[in-house]
Amino acid sequence: MDNNLYISNQKLHTPRLILRWLDKSDRDLIFALRLDLRVILHTGIAQYLDIAQADDFIQRIEQDMKNNKSLTWTMFLLSTGHSIGTICFWNLSADKKEAELGYDLLPEYWGQGYVPEAILAVLDFGFKHCGFDNIYAYPSSAHTASCRVLEKTGFRFVKETDTEAEDGVYRSSVYKITVNELS
Ligand SMILES: CC(C)(COP(=O)(O)OP(=O)(O)OC[C@H]1O[C@@H](n2cnc3c(N)ncnc32)[C@H](O)[C@@H]1OP(=O)(O)O)[C@@H](O)C(=O)NCCC(=O)NCCS
Repeated sequence: MDNNLYISNQKLHTPRLILRWLDKSDRDLIFALRLDLRVILHTGIAQYLDIAQADDFIQRIEQDMKNNKSLTWTMFLLSTGHSIGTICFWNLSADKKEAELGYDLLPEYWGQGYVPEAILAVLDFGFKHCGFDNIYAYPSSAHTASCRVLEKTGFRFVKETDTEAEDGVYRSSVYKITVNELS
């Protein structure tokens, strides 16, 4: 198993998407996602009002990726080349055997199965390349669309819990998939 989870220039391909590492050129996408209240609703993320916040975020993520603390991809549509959202592993356990999945998508692309398609690609990468044993997700229990994408990609509902976020505490659903459950 590779100890360095981040491989420079690595790209993941799905039938309709290309996923490549988040970088500085994604500032407009990050700002658009974090500015849009429809996207950040249920996530506990505070709204961005200045594009400099997107630059800071990207800088933090780039550092985390080099330090094996997170892996974050930008999703591009193959058909147009447009960037449409992000998907990541973060909150890695100290032994790097467990990770949390996160994702977001510009609203004009919702309901077309893009995030489930990206999830399957990163699960394969997470279990086979990174050597994760378990991957978790903690969507807000009120966020049915997010719970649905997890159920559609093989995650199991475990329990409900309280999760602390930037804007307070919210009720979230714990979802989990183990390496043996990858279809
Ligand atoms: C949750 C999210 C990632 C779903 O991605 P997606 O690519 O649209 O997923 P799907 O196309 O598979 O749709 C999932 C569910 O969304 C709902 N949905 C469908 N069309 C929709 C639309 N136009 N708008 C909103 N929700 C829609 C449906 O319940 C669908 O489930 P179904 O396939 O069983 O009908 C996306 O809505 C999003 O980015 N939300 C904001 C950020 C976020 O919540 N991130 C997760 C934090 S845990």
